[in-house]
Amino acid sequence: KNQIYILAIESSCDDTSAAVLCNDHVLSNVVATQQIHEQYGGVVPELASRAHQQNIVPVVHQALAKANIDKKQLAAIAFTRGPGLLGSLLVGTSFAKSMSLGLGIPLIEVNHMQAHILAHFIKDTAQKRPSFPFLALTISGGHTQIVLVNDFFDLEILGQTLDDAVGEAYDKSAKLLGLPYPGGPLLDAHAQMGNPKAFPFPKPKVDGLNFSFSGLKTSILYFIQRETKKQPDFITNHLNDICASIQFTILEILMDKLKAAVAQTGVKTIAIGGGVAANSGIRQRLLEAESSMGWSTHIPKFEYCTDNAAMIGIVGYYKFLNDEFSEQGIAAKARYTL
Ligand code: KG4
Ligand code: ZN
Repeated sequence: KNQIYILAIESSCDDTSAAVLCNDHVLSNVVATQQIHEQYGGVVPELASRAHQQNIVPVVHQALAKANIDKKQLAAIAFTRGPGLLGSLLVGTSFAKSMSLGLGIPLIEVNHMQAHILAHFIKDTAQKRPSFPFLALTISGGHTQIVLVNDFFDLEILGQTLDDAVGEAYDKSAKLLGLPYPGGPLLDAHAQMGNPKAFPFPKPKVDGLNFSFSGLKTSILYFIQRETKKQPDFITNHLNDICASIQFTILEILMDKLKAAVAQTGVKTIAIGGGVAANSGIRQRLLEAESSMGWSTHIPKFEYCTDNAAMIGIVGYYKFLNDEFSEQGIAAKARYTL
């Protein structure tokens, strides 16, 4: 039992991914990103599930081929049960169930949010693992959550967004500025060339460790409408400063909540994940916090931050060690809390 090969499948949103792990090592991690949604400025659920259906077989084949193992060597199949888009989840769930039945190997259901957190435990020289307990901040296009992680399977949600996710705030703000979808990375790039104090935006007042981002989007909308009335080329002339100011506000919101979470728990080990963890500003703020506040901060390799099957596989591995398997009757779950 010292070489456990697990095939993992992720299909919760718009990326179809399959990975093969040998224990906590990633042998392959294949991701097919769906381009179709770009022209609509956001993920279209019906198109996403159709694209998953087209992608899933070639993606699984590639993952097995790259790992250079035969499917007969697999010990189990892990899949994302939720949360996510139901139509998308159904594709990965049905595929995983059929394959486990066909091969006669166990099935392991995985919570996508837990996977973003345990992605820190993928064994890779480019990653240092956080030690327990730590605070996990998951920030992506679909999620914004602070979780107290006491152990692999002992997690407590301390706060989450009441409306939009951080990535959504980035993408919607970018859209208001005429940047193509997904605008987060572009907004970040422009922000690095601008003055973060140029245009102050209000921070939302939200109790405890919860977040709210929908008000920011509205105040940016009104601000742009007001300024372009006075000066039609306002956006073009001030793009970098506007982006830097939006980024500054978002980072203040995230850092305020992280500081509050540290104060509340006394835990100074911070691990962030999700697509927005690629943001240059958050990376810089965390590095500063290491020296100014003595935090220990962790960011996984980028390919393990955005949606990927390797993170599903690592949860699968730890569940396998705990003998936590799922029944064939298990169903996908669009709303699935930690
Ligand atoms: O984890 P992910 O690939 O998919 C979801 O589960 O949502 O995250 C994608 C999100 C998008 O909203 C994208 O705009 C945002 O992450 N993102 C960024 C950056 N890179 C990706 N947001 C801000 N700055 C970045 N550098
Ligand atoms: Zn995700």
